Amino acid sequence: MAQNEQGIRRIRIAPSLLSADFGRLAESVVGVSQTADWLHLDIMDGRFVPNITIGPMVVEAVRKTTELPFDVHMMVVEPERFIKAFRDAGADSLTVHYEACPHLERVVGQIHETGALAGVALNPATPVEALVDMVDELDLVLIMSVNPGFGGQAFWPRAVDKVRRMARLRGDRQRPLIQVDGGITLKTAPLVKSAGADVLVAGTAIFGSADPGSAIQQMRKG
Ligand code: DX5
Ligand code: ZN
Repeated sequence: MAQNEQGIRRIRIAPSLLSADFGRLAESVVGVSQTADWLHLDIMDGRFVPNITIGPMVVEAVRKTTELPFDVHMMVVEPERFIKAFRDAGADSLTVHYEACPHLERVVGQIHETGALAGVALNPATPVEALVDMVDELDLVLIMSVNPGFGGQAFWPRAVDKVRRMARLRGDRQRPLIQVDGGITLKTAPLVKSAGADVLVAGTAIFGSADPGSAIQQMRKG
């Protein structure tokens, strides 16, 4: 498991901007800047997933409102076309989907060449064992606990076992960090944490709460 110097595993909370009020994006981001660890930005192209969200221009605009690391989740076909654009817009980590990359090893190399951290996301139907030959090259593995495309969906319980299997695959190494995304609430967070997750992404449970800052703190502790 990924542990700090004291041997205590550090849990990072990454609010997903998808559930923020897009009419007041800057305010929403400032509201979580003191308590969150990363900001998760969902990029959807209307092809890999049946929804369209934001592009590099919006990421660049949001970049000016916070110092939080930007964790960019690309739900995009042929993501290699946009790696540089999102990195230039301010991404610190870039996560591409396994299912969108026939030449995954090359795409991960392209991400590293930009100086960003590289992540790979797995849809519910893709087993973690698909990454057995890539583990050493990855900074992050994102286990989807819903089918990607929309916020506010119910947590897919089998994701807990996938997190456990991914933790086993990683063994004693510190990397890749294991991230879980979709349906994370105060109820489901403890399940994935005890299975070995390091980074929890949550949209509705944070931005849908009356006090996003305290929702983050509760999720980190609980
Ligand atoms: C879904 C996105 C998620 C989404 C999570 O495709 O990747 O990041 O925002 O939203 P909640 O936490 O509401 O399930
Ligand atoms: Zn996401």
